This record gives sequence, C-alpha cells and structure tokens, in this order.
Amino acid sequence: MENNTYPYVNLPLPYELNALEPYIDTKTMEIHYGRQLPAYINTLNALLKDFPELQSLTLEELIAISEDLYQDGLQVPVQNFAGGVYNHRFYFNGMAPPTNLSPRGILFEMVESQYGNYNSFKEVFKFEGMKVFGSGYVWLVYDNGILRIITTPNQNNPIAKGFCPIFALDVWEHAYFLKHYNLRANYIEDWFRVINWEQATKNYLECVNQQKDIEMQKRSKKKLQSKKL
Ligand SMILES: [Fe+2]
Repeated sequence: MENNTYPYVNLPLPYELNALEPYIDTKTMEIHYGRQLPAYINTLNALLKDFPELQSLTLEELIAISEDLYQDGLQVPVQNFAGGVYNHRFYFNGMAPPTNLSPRGILFEMVESQYGNYNSFKEVFKFEGMKVFGSGYVWLVYDNGILRIITTPNQNNPIAKGFCPIFALDVWEHAYFLKHYNLRANYIEDWFRVINWEQATKNYLECVNQQKDIEMQKRSKKKLQSKKL
C-alpha cells in the first residue's frame, strides 16, 4: 500500500467522487472521503508525532501490535486512528463504478462454492451488517484456507485477530445516512453493486500468499529446531 507509514496523507481515490452514483451518492463521498478520512489522518499523525519508534511501522503493523500498546495507553487510540485510516482506505479502494458485468474470478468462485451461491452469500453478509450495533464494519476475510464474514466494532480491524482482509463495508451511519437515511439494509444492497471484485481478488491472492509464507516460515523453524535436537 502506498503511503503506508508516518506521515500519512489522503491519497487520491481511484475514481471520481460521483462515480459510484446512484448507489453511493456524491455528497456522502465528499464528506466521508473529503472530510472524515482526513480527520482520521490528521489525528493519527498528531498521535504518532511523539512516538518516533512507531513512525516506521506500517498501518498493518500498528494494528497488529495495538494490543501490546495497552501499558502505554496507546492501544485504543492506535485502534481508532491507525484502524480508521486503514479501514477507510480499504473500504474506498474496495469500491468501483457500477457495471452491468457479473462478478467473476477465483475469489467469486470461492464465495459461490463456500456459500452455495452469491445470493446466499449476500444474505449472510447483510445479516451480519444489520447485526452491528452502533458503528463498525463487516469484513470478508481469509482464514487458513477458508473465507469468513466477520464484524468489528468502531474502527477495529481483523488484522489484530490474525485474519487477512479481502473487502470491508463501513456501516457507520456517516457512510449512508444522507442518501439512505436510517435504512442500512438498502445501503448494503446498494453497496453490493459497487464492490470492486478485481481489487478484492488481488487482496484474496495476497492473503493466500501471505498464508503460504507464514506456513513456510513455520516449517523452516521446525526443521531448524529438529536439526538442533
Ligand atoms: Fe467511515
């Protein structure tokens, strides 16, 4: 990911602010991407300013070690703001202008085979999205060879729990209230129309490779240990 260490800036979107219409409206994008994400970025920069040892860590690394920062009082601020920057970038990059093409590719095939068909997958994803009380996200993640749909509260992120994110849906009210009012279910239905399957497939393949690397490292460690014995 570009600009993945301190100091953070708001990277350009891969599409215009009005490109997701009519599913995600321009005004929401102006405020969400143009005002709310920069606020997370500014707060994260201000937080890391006094902690040079954290400045060289990537967003993923900050999120992964956030629980270890409990003693320094940094666990929650890092979860909120490193998470807030990562999650928003991931959500925005996970969308693309709507097309009439049906989703396809290796990830989509895996979704269909694991959930029976795409409609069943959407039902489960929507159900999980409706269950989030207050603010949070719904994620499709990769976990040891299988896909999982999980939710996180606030700006928490699945990386902290060892999962590899494939795509994310922001279900904070600020993501949909201007267009969909309080009707989160309608927003989720609309968001299905703008999922960037190409990007999600890239994320999925990276997750698979990451998992392979971890397994290889584990195997090498075991080999080394058995040689020492
Ligand atoms: Fe958001």
